[in-house]
Amino acid sequence: MHIIKEIQTAAYLFASILFILSLSGLSSQESAKRGVLYGIVGMIVAIIATVMGQGVEGHVYIMIAIAIASVVGIMVARKVEMTAMPQLVAILHSFVGLAAVLVGFGSYLDPKSHELTGAEHMIHLVEVFIGIFIGAITFTGSIIAWGKLDGKVPSKPWNFAGLQIMNLILLLICIALGVFFCDAEGTEGMLFLGIMTAIASFIGVVLVMAIGGGDMPVVVSMLNSYSGWAASAAGFMLRNDLLIVTGALVGSSGAILSMHMCHAMNRSFFSVIFASGGSGSSKGGEKKAIEGEVTSLNHDEVATLLKEAKSVVIVPGYGMAVAKAQYPIYELVQILRKQGKNVRFAIHPVAGRLPGHMNVLLAEANVPYDVVLEMDEINEDMPETDVVMVIGANDVVNPSAQDDPASSIYGMPVIEVWKAEKVIIMKRSMSAGYSGEDNPLFYKSNSEMLYGDAKDSVDKILNNLKK
Ligand code: TAP
Repeated sequence: MHIIKEIQTAAYLFASILFILSLSGLSSQESAKRGVLYGIVGMIVAIIATVMGQGVEGHVYIMIAIAIASVVGIMVARKVEMTAMPQLVAILHSFVGLAAVLVGFGSYLDPKSHELTGAEHMIHLVEVFIGIFIGAITFTGSIIAWGKLDGKVPSKPWNFAGLQIMNLILLLICIALGVFFCDAEGTEGMLFLGIMTAIASFIGVVLVMAIGGGDMPVVVSMLNSYSGWAASAAGFMLRNDLLIVTGALVGSSGAILSMHMCHAMNRSFFSVIFASGGSGSSKGGEKKAIEGEVTSLNHDEVATLLKEAKSVVIVPGYGMAVAKAQYPIYELVQILRKQGKNVRFAIHPVAGRLPGHMNVLLAEANVPYDVVLEMDEINEDMPETDVVMVIGANDVVNPSAQDDPASSIYGMPVIEVWKAEKVIIMKRSMSAGYSGEDNPLFYKSNSEMLYGDAKDSVDKILNNLKK
């Protein structure tokens, strides 16, 4: 028996190291595949070591559950479109939250847990309470995030006077319930636990409903972080060291990512997670009237502009992902580069619907990393750029973020495409982006619209350039 425990500890240590290597691999595109592989191997080691561990019974049922879940997981992962990946990630976070809630209730009702006494018993109760609290918030918050990303729940922020006070009161009620729960004998604390679960579930809904479309990226990574802490709490309840370590890794890396995203969007971390900024950093008041006229051109005219240009910058956005236009775009880039033009991509940190969304799509199309630049690296080159092609992007090139304090995306750094000689905006209509804000860029004198599906448009431009 002792030897089994020691093998399990060694396997857990090995899996933890693989997870750390996985995270470090995922920090750059070149090593990302290796990182994913480390993660897969680590997870297999972790599952085998847990299932084969001491005191685990019902192996047949566990195997059946793993087999069914694996088939479902593989089917969903194969079917899901790249554009629907953020929704998938959000719904997977909700499973982690739900698992933490179920583990919490199971652990509280487990007769063995009531054999604990003194400080050990108290620590266990606190673990159960906090684990369920974080799990319930993660569960419902992630479902709302899934709905918002999938367009099933409006992305407009849900905000009313007293929202913060209400959240604070709910939090204080949960703390009071926690005190009663820890005081209760046997399983008499179930009622307090149940009420707290309902309140925490409601807080999860409110927290995410109150966040505007523009700030959703931070919410996605925050929920990622919460799901890690929920898993860690479940690890404490189950006395499983690996789950504690893995949860802490996910929790802290998610929190660091959220902070980076807040920095990239010029948002305060706390105002986003507690939705105290309402919709972004808007100062309220009347929105600036949009001046100018919208003009458009056709594919051949765009091809002519590209032939004449010396430097070209491509700004991809969510529409490029929807249209799957990255492949013809790269072909276009190769043709232009062969003609000696300086062609580069400008990537906004929250372009698309997932951190690194655009980088993944461009890597998929084999675009070399050295022509893919971050917003901060390329913004200063905009005045010297002849043509900017904005392909399916909208919010990330919206000048209101700089000059309209009433806009919900005010304060968010944007790619300053309007400073270039000519801007071509490729999208299907004049409709707004994810934040719901109109874009004055379309009305600027150096801007031209090229209407249509992004892939279709790029194909047509390519045909002209190949002639
Ligand atoms: P958006 O502002 O959402 O604009 C995308 C544009 O693509 C739309 O205006 C749409 O216009 C166009 N489009 C859609 N399908 C198209 C197609 N087939 N062909 C051509 N154009 C198409 O995208 P963005 O500029 O990438 O900004 C991202 C937004 O999402 C930000 O507000 C960001 O905060 C938010 N968000 C980001 C994340 C992460 S982590 N990146 C997560 C959640 C939310 P038409 O309908 O007129 O074609």
